[in-house]
Order: sequence, then structure tokens, then C-alpha cells
Amino acid sequence: METIKRNILLNPGPATTSDTVKQAMVVPDICPRETEFCDIMNSIKLDLPKVVNGQDDYVAVLFASSGTGGVESAITSAVPKDGKMLIVENGSYGTRMCKIAERYSIPYISYSIAYGDYPDVKAIELLIKNDKSITHLAVIDHETTTGMRNPVQAICDLAHKYNIEVIVDCMSSYAGLEIDLQQWKAEYIISSSNKCIQGMAGLSFVIFKKSLLDKIKGNARSFYFDLYEQYSGFQKSGQMQFTPPVQVVYALRKAMDEFFVETLPGRRARYRQNYESLYNGLENLGFRFLLPEAQQSGILLAILEPKNPEYNFDVMHDFLYHRNFTIYPGKGAKEATFRLSVLGDLHKSDIEGFLSTLSDYLVEVRINKLVY
Ligand SMILES: Cc1ncc(COP(=O)(O)O)c(C=O)c1O
Repeated sequence: METIKRNILLNPGPATTSDTVKQAMVVPDICPRETEFCDIMNSIKLDLPKVVNGQDDYVAVLFASSGTGGVESAITSAVPKDGKMLIVENGSYGTRMCKIAERYSIPYISYSIAYGDYPDVKAIELLIKNDKSITHLAVIDHETTTGMRNPVQAICDLAHKYNIEVIVDCMSSYAGLEIDLQQWKAEYIISSSNKCIQGMAGLSFVIFKKSLLDKIKGNARSFYFDLYEQYSGFQKSGQMQFTPPVQVVYALRKAMDEFFVETLPGRRARYRQNYESLYNGLENLGFRFLLPEAQQSGILLAILEPKNPEYNFDVMHDFLYHRNFTIYPGKGAKEATFRLSVLGDLHKSDIEGFLSTLSDYLVEVRINKLVY
């Protein structure tokens, strides 16, 4: 096979993938109703919970959609008609959950703080105490808006103390950060094929407690994203209800095989090393960051935009893009930022190459010292 040009994506997914994952998509055409394909789907379904210590008490359901589809499925299937949500909103993905609830007329209140502020679990408890009708709490694990890792364990413990079920968006943490469902005991988590698991975009998945199946039957407000129907349909026929993105499924199978070879500690260590190289390199160039180190996920940095008149994000983006490095703008954090992520098939030399090219950009636009 021809060599495929390797772009270094520092946006938080879709991520840089290995050549072998790219090549896994080039397969003979196949009807997804054939056993050969169903076996692959089934193996993925069984392996997804293993990544987060799901064991036998959790099951996985896949949808042909981007990650938001999975979030939409969990929310609109989990919350019963007389239920109410409490949504932790400290980034744009928390806001997106509020928008989903709003669109489906699901009652909710939000714990809303600035994008980049750390959730105060005591304040969340106060909201729960003041509203006995809350049945579900939803939170983002790694808030990709800011790079913050939210205190999910504490939030799960709190919710369970009040018999509230928890929905956690693990889009940019699944397979990149330690998630132990035996510890969290979260009822639902969601992720997608194209972030830390390092597959291609096109599949979302919800991993949830098997014991909830009877409870969610008939809850769904959406036809396509009905979690119960998608699960039970697959159990009956071994097939997805609707056409899957066949080649993306092959790529996800390959990406999962590569994950199990690298192992979670191995991937964590690689991401951590890349993150530290990036952090130190940026700091040496004079950049500053949105979050204190203790709140950083270790996967994504929200970098404060310098005040130099010569600095311009779009110019910097284009300079880097034409040299194979893709960077990402900010998304409404409490201070103006741009973002860089180390998720994906990235290695030390990629980060070193990026830092040296970023330094070339600063020279090109005649910035000697960054101003804040
Ligand atoms: C935390 C989080 N939630 C949800 C999403 C939405 O995923 P998608 O763009 O695949 O729909 C993202 C995407 O970056 C994310 O980071």
C-alpha cells in the first residue's frame, strides 16, 4: 500500500491514527448483515467495557454517529418521563447536555460556573438537597473546552448517596485516562471511536449497567437513539438496527487491538510524556495556561492567547497547518485561549517537531517575548 501522508493533529480528535488503523479500512466490500461482519461488531461490543473495568455488569451499545449522538442517546433513554436532570456545566460540552435536555423537553437544572472553574461538590450537594425531584446527574469527565478533569468520583459518590443515577461524558478520556467503573459505579458513560481509542470518526458508544435494561425500556424520546432497542435488537439479531459505517468498524477493531497491546498504563505514560514535553516547551517559549496544573487532565492544554499585537491565531494556525501541524481554537473559556491536545498516535518527535515549528512562527512574526 502507498505510504499515507502523516499529519500531526493537535486538535482533540478526530486524532492522528496509526498507518495500520488507516489501512484496516481498506477491506473487500461486505454486507453488514453477514456473519463475518457481525462477529467483528460483537467482539467490539464485548471489548468496549473492558477498557474501563466494566466487567460483566456493564454492556455496550454502538451507534453510527459522532459522539454527541451517544450523549443524546444516554440522556434521552435514561431519564424517565417523570425524571429530572442536574447537569454540571463548566464547559461547552456541559452546555451541550443542557441543550439536548432542552430540545427534548427533559426537565433539568444546571450547576453552571465559568468555563474553567472547578466544580464545588458541596454546592452540587446543596442543589440536590433543595430539589428532591432530581433523578439523574450528568457531568463531563474531561471537559475538552478547558482541559479540566472534573471530580467525577466525588460526584458519583454524592449522587449515589441520594439514589441519583449518573451519566458521564467520557468522550475525550475513554482509553486515555484511568476510568474504573467498579469505583465510579456510574450508570452510563459515553465515548466515540475517534479520540483516545485512536480509531476513525463515525461511531459513538454508550456503556451502561446491564441491570438498567428493564428500567429504560420505553423511555426513549428518539427513534434512532433508543438505547434499549439498539441493545436488544443487537442481542436478537447480532446486527445493528441501522446501517453501520462498515469501514470505520474495521478501523475501530484494529484500534482496539492496538490499545490492548499498548495497554492503558502504556497509553497513559505516552500521553503523559507528550503532554509534559508540550507543557515544558510552551512554557519555555513564554506561553501561559488557563488551568492550574492540579486540575489539568494531562491530555489537553488550553493556552492563554498572548496580547502581542503581532499575534494572530489564524495566521499561526495557517503557518503550522502548512507544515503538517493542526492546532485548535478556544471554545468560550473564561479567558481567551487556543487548545492543543496530545490524544492520538503521537510520539516524542512529533511534539518536538511541533515546538520547533511554533518557535519558527514566533520568529517569522517577530515576537521576541510573549506579552500577557
Ligand atoms: C467532552 C466532549 N463531549 C462531546 C463531544 C462531541 O463529540 P462529537 O463532536 O464527536 O459529536 C466532544 C468533542 O470534542 C467532547 O470533547
